[in-house]
Amino acid sequence: MLADIIDRRQIKTDAESLAIWGKDWTNGFNVAPSAVVFPETNQQVVDIVHYAIKAGLRLVPSGGRTGLSGGAVAERGEVVVSFDRMNQILDFNAEDRLVTCQAGVITQVLQEFAAAQQLFYPVDFASAGSSQMGGNVATNAGGIKVIRYGLTRDWVAGLRAVTGTGALLDCNNGLVKNATGYDLRHLLIGSEGTLGLITEVDVRLAAQPEPQTVMVVGVPQVLDLLNVLNCFNSQVTLSAFEFFSDLALQKVRAHRDLPAPLADAVAYYALLEFDASAMDAASTAFEQCLNQGWVVDGVVSQSQAQADALWQLREGISESIAPYTPYKNDLSVCIHDVPDFLADVDRFVAESYPDFEVCWYGHIGDGNLHLNILRPEHLSVEEFMAKGHAMSPKIFELVRARGGSISAEHGVGLLKRDFLNYSRSEQEIALMQGLKQLFDPHQILNPGKLLAAGV
Ligand code: MLT
Ligand code: ZN
Repeated sequence: MLADIIDRRQIKTDAESLAIWGKDWTNGFNVAPSAVVFPETNQQVVDIVHYAIKAGLRLVPSGGRTGLSGGAVAERGEVVVSFDRMNQILDFNAEDRLVTCQAGVITQVLQEFAAAQQLFYPVDFASAGSSQMGGNVATNAGGIKVIRYGLTRDWVAGLRAVTGTGALLDCNNGLVKNATGYDLRHLLIGSEGTLGLITEVDVRLAAQPEPQTVMVVGVPQVLDLLNVLNCFNSQVTLSAFEFFSDLALQKVRAHRDLPAPLADAVAYYALLEFDASAMDAASTAFEQCLNQGWVVDGVVSQSQAQADALWQLREGISESIAPYTPYKNDLSVCIHDVPDFLADVDRFVAESYPDFEVCWYGHIGDGNLHLNILRPEHLSVEEFMAKGHAMSPKIFELVRARGGSISAEHGVGLLKRDFLNYSRSEQEIALMQGLKQLFDPHQILNPGKLLAAGV
């Protein structure tokens, strides 16, 4: 029946396609879409929504499918709306430094387009080669440069989106200043496809940065990670301040056959990136950290190839631990609370689950910690997932106690939906439900993500 409104070549219903487009990188959810459609224009997205209202279909928007919270999983016969064929860069304006992309433009393609204009798209993460701009906006993607450049939200100067009534909204038009009331653009950013299907994004680009230098330092005590951060921050403008534990390093090294960055293993490592011209100031900061005993060793990139190799130690971790089907968490607390929070979690896991291995890494410079607990060999995936589910309230209680967030950058999706109250008040959730009702009165957009279906 969809073929009445869209060309048959833009619809897939074979089992293999349903299995591919019906999910993101998460495992453990039922995957059962009824069809996948590939619109090519805004009008086709509008037509699909109108059709869905009429036919009682529900729609799951799908980008690069790199999400880690089940936000793009079609569990119960929904139609997946893939933006793979809306992958064009539509316009560029040098005065405004503004590029208009369709939602399916791959992040790395935008980064390369920006570089070709001698400009820079600064939001970056390991999945930049597959993630799409629409998905980045829908989840307000963060990544590895947030401490210097902020989140996706900070670069979105306008967007087009189709609401659950089939209205095509055109928000903010690329303006720098616009004080005309509620900024619906920012409501749609991070709404995980529950309020509208994002079809186009106007992205502001930045000036190109200088060449960057990467330093990896060994930090024996978690508390000292913040001392190192403070010491460098007072003298050097950092583009990134990431961390990983020795267990995370062991996994990524084994997976990618990488050499150790330092002569001896250390409990934690910090990866710092800064303008190459700040090397003298960075050396001074490093010496100070060494004298204080906050760091015990360090290595600095001497070329782009070496910088890339050091980044692999951090960016390859997620993929390297995937075979352990880890219990994944994406938590944030205020930066000053990081060491105490990390100790709270370590204590809880050691006491309650002594046979579980905790693999820490993440964007510690902005307070975002990726907590991954690896599945021990003796537990099946199902048994381990059940244990993870039972563990969640305890871990989220520790997050709540410090006023943190149960999802810093991956989004709520299906995975965290039932735990939203650990980070949002009853009043906030009620307002969110009210907004959902306004934007999507027929409850057809990404049902069950972020908020329980039908609410
Ligand atoms: C990362 O920072 O590596 C990504 O958010 C992916 C992950 O957390 O595994
Ligand atoms: Zn991350």
